[in-house]
Amino acid sequence: MVRACSVCGLPLPEGARFCPNCGAAAGPLVETEERKMVTVLFTDLVDSTGLAQRFDAERARDLLGRFFDAASEELIALRGRPEKFIGDAVMAVFGLPHVHEDDALRAVRAGLAIRERVRRLGESLGMVPPLEVRTGIETGEAAVGRSPTGQLLVTGPVVNTAARLQAAAQVGQVLVGQTTYLLTKASVAYGRPRRVRAKGFDVGLEAYGVEDLTPRSARRTIPFVGRAGEQAILGQSLGVASTTGRPVLVTVAGEAGIGKSRLADELAAGVSAAVLILRGQAQAHTDTATFSPAAAIVGDVAGIRARDDPEVIRGRLRELAERTSGDGAAARLTQRLLLLFGLTESRDETAFVPEVQAGFISVIDGLARDHPVLLIFEDVHTLKAPMLDLIERLGVHGQGPRRALIVALARGELLEDRPAWGAVGGNSVLIRLEALSRDESVQLARHAGGGRIDELEATEIAERAGGNPFFIIETTGMLMPAVAGADGRGTRTVPPTVQAVVSARIDALPPRLRDLARHASVFKYAFDLSELTVVDPGATAEELAQLEDCEVVVRDPQPGDPQRWRLRHSTLKDVVYASLPKRERLRLHELVAGYLQAAGHPSLAADHLELAAFAAIDLDPNDRSVPDRAADALLVAGDRARRRMESRTAIDRYERSLALAGAEERWQVREARVLAGKGESHYWLGEYSAATLALTRAVELGEKHDDAFALALALRFLGDVAINFEADGFVRVDPRITLEVSLVLLKL
Ligand SMILES: Nc1ncnc2c1ncn2[C@@H]1O[C@H](COP(=O)(O)OP(=O)(O)OP(=O)(O)O)[C@@H](O)[C@H]1O
Ligand SMILES: [Mg+2]
Repeated sequence: MVRACSVCGLPLPEGARFCPNCGAAAGPLVETEERKMVTVLFTDLVDSTGLAQRFDAERARDLLGRFFDAASEELIALRGRPEKFIGDAVMAVFGLPHVHEDDALRAVRAGLAIRERVRRLGESLGMVPPLEVRTGIETGEAAVGRSPTGQLLVTGPVVNTAARLQAAAQVGQVLVGQTTYLLTKASVAYGRPRRVRAKGFDVGLEAYGVEDLTPRSARRTIPFVGRAGEQAILGQSLGVASTTGRPVLVTVAGEAGIGKSRLADELAAGVSAAVLILRGQAQAHTDTATFSPAAAIVGDVAGIRARDDPEVIRGRLRELAERTSGDGAAARLTQRLLLLFGLTESRDETAFVPEVQAGFISVIDGLARDHPVLLIFEDVHTLKAPMLDLIERLGVHGQGPRRALIVALARGELLEDRPAWGAVGGNSVLIRLEALSRDESVQLARHAGGGRIDELEATEIAERAGGNPFFIIETTGMLMPAVAGADGRGTRTVPPTVQAVVSARIDALPPRLRDLARHASVFKYAFDLSELTVVDPGATAEELAQLEDCEVVVRDPQPGDPQRWRLRHSTLKDVVYASLPKRERLRLHELVAGYLQAAGHPSLAADHLELAAFAAIDLDPNDRSVPDRAADALLVAGDRARRRMESRTAIDRYERSLALAGAEERWQVREARVLAGKGESHYWLGEYSAATLALTRAVELGEKHDDAFALALALRFLGDVAINFEADGFVRVDPRITLEVSLVLLKL
């Protein structure tokens, strides 16, 4: 019997009272006995008695041990749990701790993977006849609970059925029962059904032999390879956080496609059902783009959906506040959450950032007081400073217990831009995710090829990939016609770079799907069908499904209504976008900007206008119309952020506005205001020399173009810097400054 830790999910040794991996008390995997839909797999080694006779006892035991190890590895890589080793058989359960809709399919895939592994094992030992297994699989309701000694028990007719199917399977066969068959028949090719006579079943059992997975399902269930050490660190960190009540921040850093998101997915799939999983992914619903990962999490726990009315959102946030905070604090928390959703005007805009941060931390504290919480933040290198500060603060122990593991996934840029990341206090761990080993790469290439690429190709791909899983998966996809595009024009030579692989994949799509993919690449994050029709009026749900089949888009994992999609991977998005002609980029970004503006998201609209402007400048540097509109919009967006004291965001937007403003000698009123705003933002960050530089320039321009607003703003802060922060400031203050401030304020 293999027990698994209820916190980190890794196997527990016999009789352990604490998990050696994470230190958590070896509590129950399931709190009480419950009924669950699970898929049970039995697999056993064919002719093991014969083996025992042919080999000496020690060698036979060694072989059995290797079989158990290999089978367990394949099962775990597909999120199955090996539960029992009985004689020479393994029993495994799929659907614990979390039921996944594709549990049955994963079990079938595991059956095939174990068969391959065991054949390879036999070959490597030079065994004749070859080493084989028999496998039986069935899905059904089972009672899941604990025995008096604390061991996990899965009981029910489904367990017997799977065992009977295994006994009835032919050598090398994976035989499934009626329910598994019904759940997987769209994804798996089966032979003709046969009736299996089985003890205890009057009418016999309907059984289906697996022939193969369809290419599509083979691609959707690619097993997880390697990364055992990294998983152990994550598991231990969760254990520390949940047993001590002190949060742990784990940063997973690495290049694009190296497997950061997948590592986090596997962690989430393996943790006990008692752990609340929250994912912060940038989303475009709220206008406070800076805090959108926090908004996504709060929206998720509050049960808010993309198109909810403001009144509904208010109600849900109030409920959440009442649920997570003590008496008397709920009203304040509600206000803070409303701020996060842009549903209340803060009288004092300077309080925006700290209020939103405090609100989010209260919600997490409320949730993580008694139960462990796993927070996963994707693409952290793209987040703005106030959100980064918030993530760091989550990792610092507050007053009460916070049983939270915070996982930040980021490309290397994060650590270049913020070398002190994670150093604000608290427990912080950095994992640098390195390339897969050569063996792991070959293994992944084989898995991703789903039996449709040969050994030579698998090795060649592994060699070119430099250990990058994204490269391996893309390349194998290109070699599989069903994935490469509906017309199946896959080429059989392996291009040398990820970019080339992805381009070849896109080129092989039918023209209509290629266009649709290109149109979809202009969205920054996810999009729903109606948003997609803004850039592609003919788009249909059917076509989106086809793009999904070709592995270009995926459904957004956040359940939502309406369903949202995104390009499957950021590298894929970059390559598709790069293939879009400039004129098209210009047209499409303007369309999206218009839509976002009308929907009340001016700052997001500004981002799209900026991208439109980049294209416009490349097309005709003399046509200033789009760049001017973009620079205006970025000024407005910068001012919004400045008033909310999101100073870094403000500076970023102002600088982008200036970059679009053209040659300096042409700068006018807009630039005067941009510089004044930028100066003020530097001032609040304590960057006085940068502030002085921008403000002085703002004064010059403001005077030249007689703009009272820019002058008032710039002189006010310039005066402040001179009076308060320069050693001999008071002596040097230009008397003009105070005078002018008064005059200008009068004029305003
Ligand atoms: N260890 C692994 N075993 C199997 N597949 C993997 C593994 N690591 C990554 N993959 C697969 O490789 C692809 C790229 O991985 P992933 O999306 O996790 O990369 P990433 O590091 O998050 O990249 P980005 O920085 O662009 O977000 C995905 O399809 C993922 O499922
Ligand atoms: Mg990722």
